[in-house]
Amino acid sequence: MAYVVPIIVLDAVAAFLAGILVIANRVFVEYGDVTVDVNKGAEEFVAEGGTTLLQALTENEIYIPSACGGQGSCGYCTVRVKEGGGPVLPTEEPVLTREELVNEVRLSCQVKVRENLKVEIEEKYLKIEKFEAKVISTRDVTPSIKEIIFDLIEPETIDFKAGQYVQVQVPTNGDTVDRAYSIASEESVQDRVMLNVQLIEGGLGSTYLHELEEGDQVEFTGPFGDFYVQPSDAKIIGVAGGVGLAPLRSIAFSVLEKEIEREIWLFFGVRTLDDLYYHEDFQELAEKHENFNYVPALDSSQPEWDGEVGLITEVMDDYLEEGKNMEGYLCGPPPMMDATIDLLTEYGIDKEDILYDDFS
Ligand SMILES: Cc1cc2nc3c(=O)[nH]c(=O)nc-3n(C[C@H](O)[C@H](O)[C@H](O)COP(=O)(O)OP(=O)(O)OC[C@H]3O[C@@H](n4cnc5c(N)ncnc54)[C@H](O)[C@@H]3O)c2cc1C
Ligand code: FES
Repeated sequence: MAYVVPIIVLDAVAAFLAGILVIANRVFVEYGDVTVDVNKGAEEFVAEGGTTLLQALTENEIYIPSACGGQGSCGYCTVRVKEGGGPVLPTEEPVLTREELVNEVRLSCQVKVRENLKVEIEEKYLKIEKFEAKVISTRDVTPSIKEIIFDLIEPETIDFKAGQYVQVQVPTNGDTVDRAYSIASEESVQDRVMLNVQLIEGGLGSTYLHELEEGDQVEFTGPFGDFYVQPSDAKIIGVAGGVGLAPLRSIAFSVLEKEIEREIWLFFGVRTLDDLYYHEDFQELAEKHENFNYVPALDSSQPEWDGEVGLITEVMDDYLEEGKNMEGYLCGPPPMMDATIDLLTEYGIDKEDILYDDFS
């Protein structure tokens, strides 16, 4: 035990020195203004040295995905840094693939703006807009999930593909952090955005959204994401777990309202009856459209439930037929998605035809 005290003291001293360094870096190191060149001169702006590249881009109305709000964990905020980014940081290495590292891809939330930068950003992000919106309704659809509908104020409409998401700017300590939420409304509704938000205990974004009241204003950017229906005639196999239903609701309603004759299956797995939401809406949709099949399942049996029971993969096994002409669209807890990917590949679907949205 004699060695424990010196170790604690050493740790405390190291933490103290690290803190001093961070503060000294902020207070004394002046980088001045630097120029950021985007896509070989397509855009150029001056940024205050010392901020992160992600902040500098956002301040200059270039919105790239940043689902974890700059914590360096989601890996969404990648850009190519051709010049001026400094060495790759230890915080970036675990998140970036070898191929990305070779191709000068960096996490913009980790790169500090210290000298003139040349960066390359996917063209689609230069079109992302920031929306001001007003809450027009909120209601609990399960004990932990709220449906929130926003009326768009400026711009007045949003053009998105079903399955995409927006990044809500969550106020915190006089600043904002971004959190991603899938659009649950259908593509044809362009003047409103509906979200389904699961409350995470102690969660910044989900608590903020759950506390919103009618008339409150929020800001979000978007639309983001590649999780949307691919143009083909393949059967759509949608699989949702819990709040993962949000993008799949948008997909099912959007495809059906376009009267596309693709066969659609929606498997929806929840723990208990209380967690089952939009159930009647999907039942009605299935009655209206012959090409839409809705299969909800509870994890375990309940007296009031005479539907499917079991893991969603076990349930799917009873309905799926082998064949290549299928595409998977999955959204739910990671273990559910892993098991579903394995199942769908066993049924003959190529891995590249399985799209998934990971909320974690
Ligand atoms: C592309 C995308 C789309 C998304 N769409 C939706 C959506 O439609 N609806 C929705 O509700 N969420 C969605 N999310 C998740 C959402 O962005 C937030 O991560 C989630 O709301 C938690 O954020 P928070 O600020 O409340 O919690 P934080 O303040 O970020 O986290 C608080 C604590 O909770 C833990 N935590 C974070 N997320 C979870 C979780 N899911 N389960 C358990 N613990 C957690 C954290 O590790 C931390 O300890 C989506 C995420 C992505 C990447
Ligand atoms: S890694 Fe999530 S915002 Fe940068």
